[in-house]
Amino acid sequence: MASTKDPSGRIFYESTACIAVMLFRVTLGLKSSTSIEGTGMVPAPSSAEETLIHILDDARTSGFIETMCECLTASGSSVISGSSNMVPAACEACKSIWYFIEALEIISIKGQKYIFPLNFSRHLSLSQPDSRIRDQGPILGTEAVETIDMVGKLFLGSKAIQIAIYYCFHNGQESALQAALQLMSRICLSNHSVCDILCGMPNSSIAIDGLEIGGDGTVVSDMFSILSLCAPYLNKDSGEIRNQKCKLSNPRSLVLHCCLALATITYCLESRGKFSASYVLTNSQKKQRTRLSVLAHLSSSDDRVASSIQPHSASAMLALSWLLSLESAETGKSMMCETALTVFPPMGTLRSLLKLWLSDVQESMANINGLLLNWHGIRDVCVGLLEARLKWGGPLTIEQACSNGMPQLLIYSLADGLRKDVAEENSDAKDRIGLSPVGVVWALSSLCHCFSGGAFREVLFKKECMKLITDLTSDVHLKMLRNWKGLGGGDRGVADLINAVVDLLAFPFVAVQSSSNMPLASASINSGFVLNIGSPGGRMGAENKEMIKTIETNMPQYVQILREIRVPECILQGLDFIDSKDIARPIAFVAKMVGYRPLALQLLREGLLNSSRVRRLLGGSIPKEAVLDFLMIISDLARMSKDFYEPIYEGGLLDFLKEYITNEDPDLRSKACTAIGNMCRHSSYFYSLLATHKIIDLLIVRCADPDRRTRKFACFAVGNAAYHNDVLYEQLRRSIPQLTKLLLSAEEDKTKANAAGALSNLVRNSNILCEDIVSQGAMKALLKLVSDYYVAALSPSRGGAINESPLKIVLFSLCKMCEHAICKRFLRSSEFFPILTQLRSSPDSTIAEYASGIIARASEA
Ligand SMILES: *[C@@H]1O[C@H](CO)[C@@H](O)[C@H](O)[C@H]1NC(C)=O
Ligand SMILES: *[C@@H]1O[C@H](CO)[C@@H](O)[C@H](O)[C@H]1NC(C)=O
Ligand SMILES: *[C@@H]1O[C@H](CO)[C@@H](O)[C@H](O)[C@H]1NC(C)=O
Ligand SMILES: *[C@@H]1O[C@H](CO)[C@@H](O)[C@H](O)[C@H]1NC(C)=O
Repeated sequence: MASTKDPSGRIFYESTACIAVMLFRVTLGLKSSTSIEGTGMVPAPSSAEETLIHILDDARTSGFIETMCECLTASGSSVISGSSNMVPAACEACKSIWYFIEALEIISIKGQKYIFPLNFSRHLSLSQPDSRIRDQGPILGTEAVETIDMVGKLFLGSKAIQIAIYYCFHNGQESALQAALQLMSRICLSNHSVCDILCGMPNSSIAIDGLEIGGDGTVVSDMFSILSLCAPYLNKDSGEIRNQKCKLSNPRSLVLHCCLALATITYCLESRGKFSASYVLTNSQKKQRTRLSVLAHLSSSDDRVASSIQPHSASAMLALSWLLSLESAETGKSMMCETALTVFPPMGTLRSLLKLWLSDVQESMANINGLLLNWHGIRDVCVGLLEARLKWGGPLTIEQACSNGMPQLLIYSLADGLRKDVAEENSDAKDRIGLSPVGVVWALSSLCHCFSGGAFREVLFKKECMKLITDLTSDVHLKMLRNWKGLGGGDRGVADLINAVVDLLAFPFVAVQSSSNMPLASASINSGFVLNIGSPGGRMGAENKEMIKTIETNMPQYVQILREIRVPECILQGLDFIDSKDIARPIAFVAKMVGYRPLALQLLREGLLNSSRVRRLLGGSIPKEAVLDFLMIISDLARMSKDFYEPIYEGGLLDFLKEYITNEDPDLRSKACTAIGNMCRHSSYFYSLLATHKIIDLLIVRCADPDRRTRKFACFAVGNAAYHNDVLYEQLRRSIPQLTKLLLSAEEDKTKANAAGALSNLVRNSNILCEDIVSQGAMKALLKLVSDYYVAALSPSRGGAINESPLKIVLFSLCKMCEHAICKRFLRSSEFFPILTQLRSSPDSTIAEYASGIIARASEA
């Protein structure tokens, strides 16, 4: 098959075409034999089928794929050297490869009913709760998968093959296009980096210098040309082909596969962190508009009043949804989104589509040729568009959605055919397969967007709705999802689902965060911060005051519901399924829940601080914000009650705290100090433990930390470590010079107050440190502070400023010290003593009282 012997490419072409025809017949034969059964049983193959399988076996053993890829290589090489003679043969080779894979797929999924993880998990948990997860719907036979992987590898590794495929798109006939599109969709999913090549990223081989990404000369550009070519053939009114002289035999199918390929490419780009639709739509606004418009046109090119949604329209909606989902919320609404929204179907249309889908469209879609189409979630129809619309459309769109009853429809779609109590109108629909994994995430996200339009009332305070949502994180569903090979499955699918559920459940917590009278607001102002920025609850502004008030009032009820449906348990179980890099949002949600005692108790009961979990979380490489939130969780629990001390100890937190207290990141150091401080707040439980873990010395060093917050909280922790008894006094002796220094330097008032408070605790339980207190100048420093503040303290008009200042705590500290003889002696001889006499007449009664107390004690013998 060397091209040197066949310069015209004729022989080459004839032989590959012959193989293609043969394999095409095989797929037809297999298809017709499988469509007869449809019983769900796997029958013994008929003799005709055996013959077909035999042909495939022959192909396999003779190294068929390798040979076809050699054809592609030869063809691509000849293109590179300037001849296009081999292009027709490349098209036939491409077709042959595709038919071969298609045949393997047909065999491997034969007899299996198609079930999405959602329906599967519900069906399973309802009927046979403990049956094993064995039959997980069509997972491709390993042979089909292996073949796809192999082609993918060869494609990635060979510039010539890439060029050959590009020319199949560029010059090919319809059958070659069909084949190439399906092949590309599959190898993209098998290795996501294939999408770079199809878009013409700088390092892909097709890309010529200066080529625009997604622009002319790339495969995606050709895909849009195909769509533009097909669009006029699809009549808007009747769905019939208008142009009788149509050169395309099946424009619908071409559009379908083209859109699915685009959706797949976009999905892969997203998973590679390429968050911009311009990778597919180019940077040219004109091209963007044209491409978005053709997709929008195809989305609506069937008659909506009719009772069916056509697969090609559904696939165009899917591609549009994916493209929009590439635009990142963090960088704000782009021009692209603006453009897209103008071509989107209006809300009323989306509602009709969703209703249609809920009534019977699944039936009509069920017969789409090729079960694997379901990998893409083509059956979700318009849920993705709705999500994009809500995400980018602003408050007005959300209002429209709510007044169109979308929240209820979304609940129905999630409940589809399952719970009669929730989805009463639709309970008669029987053989429905519900939402795909991607559809579930889109539906949840859409619902959450609707909350800020008031829809939270219909969902969050209804136990059965909430149960429906939390059931999505059941063991069975998550396992199914992890094994799902299509779009929206795998580890990433699990993370997306859990994050969507978390956003939804966290909505009330986030919405009320601004209110100051919620529990622990001052301590956890930053906990769960990742949720505050990314989720709809965080966008509730001043205009939603009434709603925030309602949520606030109903918070106890909400907490009760979360407890009853065991949300803490669900989330903790979810953590075990999720990759540590994706853990930030669920941990942030836990951090929010911990602020409410009933939820905190349940979280602990369900093993939040189980040592193996703690080790898995903190011992692994989790994102910094998750570590911060975990430290906040420890802090909040410790602060709440001494009942939580033992679980904190048993969770093995001390070793981690010791590590974080010396971490190079100041945020972690300061949070670790705060946690330790709270762990010493209610009792001396941790005192000896801190000593044996050698944490006290590290804490003292932190009082001189370069970071101001770390200094502040280190003083707080040192103070609490000295409060309950004098067990740690010897170790804390070294802190006296550090604390003194802070009193005298330019520090925040709060830090000085903490330092003064710590000093008072160091004389509270015994006098063994009094000598150091005097000799290290701590008393002198305290008196110096008194002199700095006393003018303000005597002036009646400046009471406010005094309340902020550390003066009171400084006086309190001096008063404590005066219980010890050595301190008394020092005070009496101090040059500042007369100032204290004056302070007895301060208009602030507390100050006056402390000053009198000091004088009285100091005057005693
Ligand atoms: C995908 O292809 C790239 C480049 O050829 C390779 O480095 C990577 O390991 C492949 N990934 C998988 C999952 O096979
Ligand atoms: C892309 O190509 C450049 C130059 O050929 C090379 O230096 C760089 O490492 C490549 N990048 C990747 C991601 O392959
Ligand atoms: C889910 O799958 C089961 C099992 O195949 C099927 O009987 C049922 O009709 C499907 N639909 C729903 C909504 O449960
Ligand atoms: C902690 O979790 C592990 C695994 O989930 C479990 O085996 C163990 O019993 C749990 N330990 C405690 C103390 O709850």
